[in-house]
Amino acid sequence: MQMLNFGRGRGQSRSTRSIPLGGGDDPYFQEKRTGMDYPDPKRKSNFVGKILLAATLTALCIIMLKQSSTFNTPSPFSERQEGVVHVLVTGGAGYIGSHAALRLLKDSYRVTIVDNLSRGNIGAVKVLQELFPEPGRVQFIYADLGNAKAVNKIFSENAFDAVMHFAAVAYVGESTLDPLKYYHNITSNTLVVLESMAAHGVKTLIYSSTCATYGEPENMPITEDTPQLPINPYGKAKKMAEDIILDFSKNSDMAVMILRYFNVIGSDPEGRLGEAPRPELREHGRISGACFDAARGIISGLKVKGTDYKTHDGTCIRDYIDVTDLVDAHVKALEKAKPHKVGIYNVGTGKGRSVKEFVEACKMATGMNIKVEYLPRRPGDYAEVYSDPTKIRLDLNWTAKYTNLQESLQVAWRWQKAHRDGY
Ligand SMILES: NC(=O)c1ccc[n+]([C@@H]2O[C@H](COP(=O)([O-])OP(=O)(O)OC[C@H]3O[C@@H](n4cnc5c(N)ncnc54)[C@H](O)[C@@H]3O)[C@@H](O)[C@H]2O)c1
Repeated sequence: MQMLNFGRGRGQSRSTRSIPLGGGDDPYFQEKRTGMDYPDPKRKSNFVGKILLAATLTALCIIMLKQSSTFNTPSPFSERQEGVVHVLVTGGAGYIGSHAALRLLKDSYRVTIVDNLSRGNIGAVKVLQELFPEPGRVQFIYADLGNAKAVNKIFSENAFDAVMHFAAVAYVGESTLDPLKYYHNITSNTLVVLESMAAHGVKTLIYSSTCATYGEPENMPITEDTPQLPINPYGKAKKMAEDIILDFSKNSDMAVMILRYFNVIGSDPEGRLGEAPRPELREHGRISGACFDAARGIISGLKVKGTDYKTHDGTCIRDYIDVTDLVDAHVKALEKAKPHKVGIYNVGTGKGRSVKEFVEACKMATGMNIKVEYLPRRPGDYAEVYSDPTKIRLDLNWTAKYTNLQESLQVAWRWQKAHRDGY
């Protein structure tokens, strides 16, 4: 604001100066032109004009100084406050990040959202700001985490206690088409965030990782000790980011929690937030998005690829975790994070559901008769993926509560129906 006022002032004086030059009204030129030697009444008026100008400038300076003292009042986000934990939520305009921000705000945390809106929605941020309008509750900073200078500035101007790092591009299919984007956005940006945290003494990190870091494990369920052998750039980029965090934490007192999510579904049960991915990313989208698109007639139906897997109904099996449970795991992880300690946890229900079951649940939840086409297998899909969530239950006292697939989809569908064009 200060800069803006000052800039306008300068712009104005420059523009008033430029008129005489162009119009030939400059006193210097007039004297030269006329060569007259008598007291010029215009000079007198110039003198008065100069005094007036000086008075105006002085008044402007006083106003600007007054304003600057108002604007220098520290923002509540820039100072630590006893009893208030300030969390930086990267990617907080996105699906999971916005739900996490809502939960944090409900639990009286102070939240700063940093997002470049490449995939998220400013509408989600607005919902949060309307729900929590009091000063010092939630602020939004538009920035790209790839810009180390900007990130460093954000850390220097805000007193964060912890970071929940959600921001990422997150589509397996897209990652195979544009791997460099994934390594840059996930791996390199995590390094930027970590460097800023280290430089500014922010000591707690909750990191969004994924079951895609495990690749195609031979044995189910997946425990945290299952070897990580990712098979696509998305999973590899996340695994590399995990490795960077783990190496750094060996010689640091940072408290780190790495959460490896399984397939996330659902939305806020009170209908304030939902999942609204960019329409152009539909082709890379996830099964719940495809089901809703089919229910709304945006696509003609669902294509289920593979009916001959060694599963009870021949279709693939996945572990679907409701976003409300997922953000609960984040808050528990934040509460239990300890300096010098790293916690790595699977966040899933521990129960696999087949694609056929999912489609049936989606039909029931939407009340629509979704057309399903059964096709041959897609290369690279694995038959069964589901978690063993024992460790997170024992260590963080967390278990999934929203495990009724149809109910989770019903909640999400309600939001989808009410927000046909997203936010
Ligand atoms: N959705 C899932 O099923 C799932 C599963 C496992 C892990 N995850 C992880 O959870 C996290 C959140 O995923 P989501 O489903 O909410 O995705 P999302 O696309 O809805 O949200 C990601 C957010 O990050 C922002 N972002 C991306 N790059 C950025 C950058 N360079 N600078 C600033 N902001 C940037 C986007 O604009 C978006 O708002 C990701 O890290 C993802 O890998 C998601």
